[in-house]
Amino acid sequence: MLGRQFHKINRIRRESLIKMFKPNGLSLLCLLSLHQVAYLLKDKLQSTGPLDNKVLSVEEGKMGPQYLYRFTFQPPTYSLRLTGEIDNLIEITPKDGVLIVNEPLDWENKSTYRLQLEGLNQNGNRVQGPYSIIINVIDINDNPPQFNKSSYSGEVRQHSLPGKPFMYVTAFDRDDPSSLNSQLSYSILHQFPSPFTTEMFFQIDNVTGAISTTLSGAENLNPDIQDKFTLEVVAKDKAGQSKDSFATSTDVKITVLENLWKSPPEVILMENSTKPHPMNITHVQWNDPSAKYELQPKEKSSIKLPFTVDQSGTVYVTEPLDREEKDYYSFYILAIDEEGDKLAYPVTVSVHVEDINDNPPVCDHVMTKFEVQENEVAGNLIGTVSASDRDKKGSFNSRLRFRLLEQTPKIPLDNLFRIESGTGSVHLFKMGLNRQVATNYFLKVEVTDPDFSTVCDVQIHVIDINDKIPIFEKSDYGTLTIPEDWGIGTILKKIQATDADEPFTGSSQIIYTITKGDPNNTFIILTDKKTNMGVIKINKALDFETAAMYNLTINATNPEPLVAGVKYNSSSSTFLQIYVTNVDEAPVFRQSVYIVEKYENVTVGTNVATAEAYDPEGYTIRYSLRKNNRNWLEIDPVSGRIYTAAPLDREIQHTYIVEIVATEQSEASKSCAVQLILHVTDVNDNPPYLAKSTVFFCHPLQKGESAEFEVDDPDTHLPVFTYTLSGEHANNWIISKADGKHAYISPTNLNLEEKIYNVSLKINDNGRPPMERVVNLKVNVCRCVDERCFIEIENPNPFPTVGVAVGILVGVLLVIGVILGIVFLNLERKKKKEQSAVAIRPSELRTLT
Ligand SMILES: *[C@@H]1O[C@H](CO)[C@@H](O)[C@H](O)[C@H]1NC(C)=O
Ligand SMILES: *[C@@H]1O[C@H](CO)[C@@H](O)[C@H](O)[C@H]1NC(C)=O
Ligand SMILES: *[C@@H]1O[C@H](CO)[C@@H](O)[C@H](O)[C@H]1NC(C)=O
Ligand SMILES: *[C@@H]1O[C@H](CO)[C@@H](O)[C@H](O)[C@H]1NC(C)=O
Ligand SMILES: *[C@@H]1O[C@H](CO)[C@@H](O)[C@H](O)[C@H]1NC(C)=O
Ligand SMILES: *[C@@H]1O[C@H](CO)[C@@H](O)[C@H](O)[C@H]1NC(C)=O
Repeated sequence: MLGRQFHKINRIRRESLIKMFKPNGLSLLCLLSLHQVAYLLKDKLQSTGPLDNKVLSVEEGKMGPQYLYRFTFQPPTYSLRLTGEIDNLIEITPKDGVLIVNEPLDWENKSTYRLQLEGLNQNGNRVQGPYSIIINVIDINDNPPQFNKSSYSGEVRQHSLPGKPFMYVTAFDRDDPSSLNSQLSYSILHQFPSPFTTEMFFQIDNVTGAISTTLSGAENLNPDIQDKFTLEVVAKDKAGQSKDSFATSTDVKITVLENLWKSPPEVILMENSTKPHPMNITHVQWNDPSAKYELQPKEKSSIKLPFTVDQSGTVYVTEPLDREEKDYYSFYILAIDEEGDKLAYPVTVSVHVEDINDNPPVCDHVMTKFEVQENEVAGNLIGTVSASDRDKKGSFNSRLRFRLLEQTPKIPLDNLFRIESGTGSVHLFKMGLNRQVATNYFLKVEVTDPDFSTVCDVQIHVIDINDKIPIFEKSDYGTLTIPEDWGIGTILKKIQATDADEPFTGSSQIIYTITKGDPNNTFIILTDKKTNMGVIKINKALDFETAAMYNLTINATNPEPLVAGVKYNSSSSTFLQIYVTNVDEAPVFRQSVYIVEKYENVTVGTNVATAEAYDPEGYTIRYSLRKNNRNWLEIDPVSGRIYTAAPLDREIQHTYIVEIVATEQSEASKSCAVQLILHVTDVNDNPPYLAKSTVFFCHPLQKGESAEFEVDDPDTHLPVFTYTLSGEHANNWIISKADGKHAYISPTNLNLEEKIYNVSLKINDNGRPPMERVVNLKVNVCRCVDERCFIEIENPNPFPTVGVAVGILVGVLLVIGVILGIVFLNLERKKKKEQSAVAIRPSELRTLT
């Protein structure tokens, strides 16, 4: 608007000035010509040149007249002629060759003008050309997007795949399809209602206009709660990147439908079914009949799942299942479309396999063997028969009962033994065992579950009475010296006791036990079954510093009890002293890692932690730090106190990790290290800065225009920036906030001229403590083409800004003499040289305009 008014004023002023100054016409003409020539000159040779083929560009919609180019020529050419698609819009001044567009062009009407230019001699005959002049019209954004329908409606199923389009909107724009002006970007402006959260349930593809559900929509949409939504969808041109783009909005009505596609309830199947297979167990259903179904295991496994799904969604089990092999199955069923693409998330089918009693009890041993002494007392426990059942633990199906069926031989009595039905433990029931009568008894034990029974065999060996005690070869094995670093399992010593009872029975077998001197079971003694030899091994790590000497008392006993009247005496005991020798070990820290947290503003010397290590051998320890790359910390070598040695800075490093080293003060100098992890906590110690420090406005300035700039702050807290304008330009601008890190600057004075303004701006982050900084925002007020500052190349705009215009009208009047002087002087000097130079001869000047 402003521009247009100005053009009019300019034209009127030009004409009236010409009339007013008629008597003194020459100098005025010179002035105006110079004004234009000054423009032509400003652009140097790019906008002026000899007759030739030319391709020029003109922005559409610009109020004329516009001076596109100035063709220079020499005799024999005296004037120019322009023909072709001039459409009464384009002309050339015949004598001085200025190509002018008189009226605004319209790209949508015509985007290219093809013209021919000829050089004519004094008689009007062509002596040069024709040359081809092509004027390309540059599109400006003068068409808003238009939707192809006035409103849209669509349907979506609950739990649809997020991001899978269920409908499209389409808009078009009449502007140049090769330019940003017709490039559309779709977005959702509002969602009505937003029932639960501020989260959007729908999204739109900014390029294709495809509408789909968001992750939140896929999770939360529920037709029972809300089944109608209206979206206000916007199409913006200029790819939605500019705040000056045109936007058109439309309503999209969406109905949410129930989703039939859901996981069926858990299936309970009896194992080992005798019904015909495959057997129908459950059903799944996609929302329309077109889908295909596919079964998919949850995890990769070589075992093939015994299930299938058919194309109507019925799920089958293909064979009888065995609970004892696998009691639970869970797998996915996919709904896929014709192309094999997933229609939605898969549903889960879970199958629980119920136990039936289909496993008989099983004896744990083919023959269970017990021993009993000849003189065993009635009631004594002889042993326990063990059997198992694979059916479900804790159910009746696996409950076992024991019963004695038969004893062989039945001499001297039957029923010498008794078995407890619940546990299977066998006891001596009657006294009277005699090795002369029978050395072995064989029992048949029946084990039953509710449906099955099994018979287990038991052998009971009658052994000699245990009336001899084990006697050690040596009553003292002396001393043994071993280093503390010998490993667990190392054999230290072999010891031997002998027993005169019947060999290879519980009466003669020997068990070695350490009865004194080893409270922590540091050692263990195993018996060689054949030779009754005892092997002493290290059972737990040795440590000289905790125990340097073990004074062991070792007893030898039999598994079978001794007969009445016989007792173990000191011949069944022996001694062994074990001395552990020291091996120098590294110091040990009391903590495996030190983790501390400090504010970044702590003063130098602040205590951070105190390292504490000890040496097992008791050597003194000295501390040091490693990997202290920034030298932020120091450690007192004696006390281990760690303190800050320099100011910390979270913005440089928020987690500082060093190693604390403890070294023993000995010849070996053994050392060890642990980590110190220092988390540096943020303090507001950085002022804000401009992340984007240059903005531009198109000249002339328009009311209500604003430009966005970006501010940032390295600290972590969420800054709340406030802005204060200062300096000479303060009154020409106002600042308004956009979001967290963005703000807008807008001009208050629309008459600002074309130049770069340094707007001084104080930004405060309102933190604790508040930090502020004065920054310079560079505001470039420039002439634009395509929303960018335009550097003139071949399209000089003859119309200066108001300020410049006044400047030129007043200023040029004053300096005209000087300029003319220089021009004439130059001409004077270069009279015969360079006739076609940049400067223009007075004769030409006169005829311009
Ligand atoms: C469209 O969206 C994508 C990502 O969502 C973004 O990277 C791109 O800049 C957007 N394009 C337009 C034209 O808005
Ligand atoms: C199924 O049950 C029968 C007895 O009912 C049994 O013999 C068979 O071993 C069982 N099969 C499986 C796989 O458990
Ligand atoms: C046994 O263990 C306790 C607790 O760990 C320890 O204090 C003691 O010194 C140990 N004694 C020996 C002899 O290893
Ligand atoms: C070892 O223990 C035995 C008996 O407990 C005792 O007689 C003997 O003096 C002890 N020896 C040492 C060195 O302590
Ligand atoms: C221990 O008892 C056995 C017989 O049972 C006997 O031969 C031996 O001398 C006894 N030892 C001592 C030290 O009394
Ligand atoms: C360090 O910053 C914290 C938090 O902003 C503040 O409370 C404290 O007083 C500051 N300390 C020093 C030494 O500046």
